[in-house]
Amino acid sequence: MNVLVAGGAGYIGSHTVAALEKTAHKVVVFDNLVKGHVEAVSEQVLLIEGDLLDADFLKHVLVTYEIDAVVHFAASSLVGESMERPEEYYRNNVLGTFSLLGAMKSAGVDKLVFSSTAAVYGEPASWPIEETFPTTPTNVYGRTKLAVEGMLADYARAYDLQYVSLRYFNAAGAAEGGNIGEDHAPETHLIPLVLKTALGQRKAVQLFGTDYPTEDGTCIRDYVHVDDLAAAHVLALDHLAKDGGSRVFNLGSEKGFSVREVIETAKRVTGVDFAVEERPRRAGDPAVLVASSAAIRRELGWQPQKSDLETIIASAWAWHQKHPNGYAE
Ligand code: UFG
Repeated sequence: MNVLVAGGAGYIGSHTVAALEKTAHKVVVFDNLVKGHVEAVSEQVLLIEGDLLDADFLKHVLVTYEIDAVVHFAASSLVGESMERPEEYYRNNVLGTFSLLGAMKSAGVDKLVFSSTAAVYGEPASWPIEETFPTTPTNVYGRTKLAVEGMLADYARAYDLQYVSLRYFNAAGAAEGGNIGEDHAPETHLIPLVLKTALGQRKAVQLFGTDYPTEDGTCIRDYVHVDDLAAAHVLALDHLAKDGGSRVFNLGSEKGFSVREVIETAKRVTGVDFAVEERPRRAGDPAVLVASSAAIRRELGWQPQKSDLETIIASAWAWHQKHPNGYAE
C-alpha cells in the first residue's frame, strides 16, 4: 500500500517509518516539524512539511501520492503540559484528527492506524489492564485521545473507515545502531532523563514519589521497546489491507518495573553510579500501569522482541551516547 505517516518525524513515528521501509509498502511522511526532526527520517523517504489542520493541502497530498492508508502519530503528548495548555491539546489532537479524517473522507482513503495511549484508562482498579477496562482518563492528554477514539468509532460506523487504535504503554528505547532515538524538548520521561544523568548532563535523577502502594513504594510502569511498537503498526496495516475490521489494542510488554528498578538497571547498563533525589509524588501519576496485550498477540500475532528492560535501556544508552544533544548537532 501507499502509506502516509503523519508525525513520521517524531519518536515513535520515525521508528515506524524505518520499519515500513523494510516492507513492500511505499511511505510518505507528513510532519509540521514543530516537535519532529528532519534528521529522524532517512533521505530515501519523501518528507512533506505540513500541518494536519490544513485539510486542503492534506487532501492534495493524499490524492497526489495515491495514499491507501494513514498512520497517524501527529499529536501533542505530554501529560503535565496538557493540563496547563488544554486548548493546544484539543486543537492539535482532536481538531487535527478531525481535519485528517475529513481530508481522508474526501480523498477516498479509508484505512487508519491511530496512536492512542494507556492514559485513556486513568487510574485502573487492577492490572493487567485489558481493552475492556473502563476508560476514565485523569488528564487532558488522555481525554483528547479518548475523544478521537470515539470519533473513529462513529466515523467507522457511518462512513467507509476502518481503523486500528493502538494504546501504547511506556514507549522507550531506540533503534539498533543509535541513529534514531528519543529527543523531546522538554524531556519529561524517566528513561531518557536517567540516561542524561548518567551522561553527566544533569546533576541527579528526581524520583517522584516513594510512598505508593507498591513493593518498593515507587510507581510501576510497563516499558515497551519503540521497535516493538513500530512492528505492531506494520501488523495493523496488514490487518487493514485485508479488510480485517476496526480494532482497539493495548501495546505493552505485560511486565511492570518500578522506578527504582529502572534506575538500578540503568546504573548496571551504563556502569555509572549517578545521584538520585527522592521527591514528592508528581500530580496525576497512577501507581501501577501494566498492560494485557493478549488481544493483539492473539489477533495480529504481535510478539515483542526487544521489550526486556535491559535491552530497552541499552539501546537508549547507545542513542544518547552517540547523540548527547539529540538531533541538534
Ligand atoms: N518519573 C520520575 N522521575 C522523572 C520522570 C518520571 O520518578 O524525572 C516517574 C514518574 O513519576 C512515573 C514513571 O517515572 O512514575 C514514568 O514516567 P514517564 O514520565 O516516563 O511516563 P508516564 O508513565 O508518566 O507516561 C506514560 C506516557 C504518556 C502516557 C502515560 C499514561 O509517556 O504518554 O504513560 O499515564 F500518557
